[in-house]
Amino acid sequence: MYHQTIVKPNAEEVAIAATEWLIETIIECLAARGSCSIALSGGSTPKRLYQIIAEKETESVDWSRVTLIMGDERNVPHDHVDSNYRMVREAWLDRLDPVAFPKSMPQVLPVVIHDNAPERAAAEYEKSIRESLLKDADDEDAEIPAIDIVLLGLGDDAHTASLFPETEALNESHRLFVANFVPKFSAYRLTLTAPMINASRNIAFLVCGPSKRPAVDVVLHGPRHPDEYPAQLIEPKLGRLWWFLDTAAASEVVK
Ligand code: 6PG
Repeated sequence: MYHQTIVKPNAEEVAIAATEWLIETIIECLAARGSCSIALSGGSTPKRLYQIIAEKETESVDWSRVTLIMGDERNVPHDHVDSNYRMVREAWLDRLDPVAFPKSMPQVLPVVIHDNAPERAAAEYEKSIRESLLKDADDEDAEIPAIDIVLLGLGDDAHTASLFPETEALNESHRLFVANFVPKFSAYRLTLTAPMINASRNIAFLVCGPSKRPAVDVVLHGPRHPDEYPAQLIEPKLGRLWWFLDTAAASEVVK
């Protein structure tokens, strides 16, 4: 498996390096297939990356050929302060000028939330993802279509996307996107599944801060217990895996 770790001195440098990597990878995907799908993560480092793109990126990428998918979402309306879609809009999309720069605006697939029906929201979103990816797929019959790029965060408890320890979604082997009840929040989260993430072409973890170090350690070097440390499930089948870390999050072994 292709696996590269990039360590930077602080969170800002991580966001800058990850943005450069993202732009290069998008350009590569556009050249290879004419389109590019990106699953976005919530969390603080990805948020900074979205801001940097909005501030700096105007011409090197034709964003109108890029589709943004929500890698995970909270089961709340789009204007709710916890909504990942709201975060992406505020950090990135709402700051673009599609009139002056029509090629700065990606296509976006938000999760349509239904009050008290997270399973329905997840099933509908799975259908939208499948339709969107199959349009440009190399293999139209693939049971699990490939997302070009998946951005991921890592929680202190080693969750990634909304795959939390000891939750139902960790056992999923067929579905692409599911509603996952998370007892510690007494709430549902909506999330890509591990098989869907593992079918992707490029996966990048963005992880910063000293509170993440034990999780980074155990995910990369600990004994394998994915029920307890869900990020251990992320092992791309054919795709490439990157970890972008700051020195505070990187374990001694990584450094
Ligand atoms: C979310 C996420 C989640 C996040 C981690 C890390 O919606 O919250 O997608 O998996 O990436 O909790 O978040 P931080 O980078 O903010 O610590």
